[in-house]
Amino acid sequence: MCYPSRMTERESPFSPGKPVQADLFVGREDEIGEVIQFLRQCATGRNENIAISGERGFGKSSLALMAASFASRDLRFGVAYCQLTAASTTEEVCTLVAERLLAQLATDTMAQKAKTVFNRYIDHVSVGLFGTGLQVKFRPDPSLRIDLKLRFPELITETYLRLAPEIDGLMIVLDDLNGVVRDQTFANFLKGWVDGMVTSGHRAIPLAIVVVASEDKLGALTKSQPSVGRIFRPVVLHRLPKDKTESFFTKAFASANVSVEKRALRDLCYFSDGVPSIMHEVGDAAFWQNQDQSVSSEDAQVGIIKAAKIIGLKYVEPQVVSKIRSKSYRQIISAMAALPGRVFTRKQLLSSVPGDDKKQVDNLLVKLKALGVIHTTEETPGEYEFIHTLDRLYFRVISAEWKAPKTR
Ligand SMILES: Nc1ncnc2c1ncn2[C@@H]1O[C@H](COP(=O)(O)OP(=O)(O)OP(=O)(O)O)[C@@H](O)[C@H]1O
Ligand SMILES: [Mg+2]
Repeated sequence: MCYPSRMTERESPFSPGKPVQADLFVGREDEIGEVIQFLRQCATGRNENIAISGERGFGKSSLALMAASFASRDLRFGVAYCQLTAASTTEEVCTLVAERLLAQLATDTMAQKAKTVFNRYIDHVSVGLFGTGLQVKFRPDPSLRIDLKLRFPELITETYLRLAPEIDGLMIVLDDLNGVVRDQTFANFLKGWVDGMVTSGHRAIPLAIVVVASEDKLGALTKSQPSVGRIFRPVVLHRLPKDKTESFFTKAFASANVSVEKRALRDLCYFSDGVPSIMHEVGDAAFWQNQDQSVSSEDAQVGIIKAAKIIGLKYVEPQVVSKIRSKSYRQIISAMAALPGRVFTRKQLLSSVPGDDKKQVDNLLVKLKALGVIHTTEETPGEYEFIHTLDRLYFRVISAEWKAPKTR
């Protein structure tokens, strides 16, 4: 196939799934302000803990990353930013945090000093990719990992004391907490760590623990240990307001010298509904759809449907649609997509699903909730809401495809 050379030269201003360019980061002034205020408090020499929560794609990791770079650049903190999606036990969390901390320290001398604290747990060491930090692998022995967990708070304090005054504090970001939130040991561990800093009579250290999780996961963590809730200062991310969403698209297209028709802008804003991850997906798809440096209403509509499919394929398809090939699930998804609004009740859904398929309704609702596709509303028991307008559109698109006669 031959592509016009113009196409290959264009660069999309959108960055789905990747950190956004600084000048296209919109809104969140209040939330950034709050986090910075807590970190400044921490820098005075005390422990502060923050929980950044919000639904899928609302910009939690981006906010945590900004906070981490502020802490490292402006407050001279040592930072361990840890992606914990795969961690399912407290031992795994402790190992990953220690490994990330050693890898992310600003200088080799600092990393070497910190390494001495963890020496007995370390299996092997290699030099970091860019010549700084240490790539360390901890020993896998289960008894050593348990020992690391038990001594972890004390080891972190020791690390800070060895590194001060080269650093003025430590920040540990636990991003994307997943399975471990349901483990009561982990909730107890967090509580014990934080309580220990207050009651042990040891010198307080400027340590910030930042937990990043969806509302659902954070809820599971506090359910495991109710007093975990009071340890953390909550920073909750909501949808971006309409004016910020609009200025995001306007700025992004303008930066690529692309104009955008009023109706196209309205549709892009409506379907992304203030969710940053979706704003990038629909913006990117509409950008590539346009061929003449102007996004028309049609470009936007085709782009939005393409983006719905991309998101569906990334999140929903592998977990729900392709795993569960049963006709029942397809019937329920089709029924859900046909309901009049994005808010619906279990009862409404049950009444629009045929006979035997009703038995699968609750299973599917649980799966979709765990995936961050729907959540229960606070107002009415048994009421659900699609979190992303685009997921509902994806359900509509695939149910139309299921119904369409096969061409082959
Ligand atoms: N305020 C913002 N302005 C513009 N783009 C943003 C903003 N916040 C986040 N983004 C972009 O949106 C996308 C999703 O952001 P991010 O990964 O931080 O969300 P998340 O809530 O951590 O998602 P997940 O629930 O999948 O972990 C990324 O491409 C990011 O660069
Ligand atoms: Mg994230």
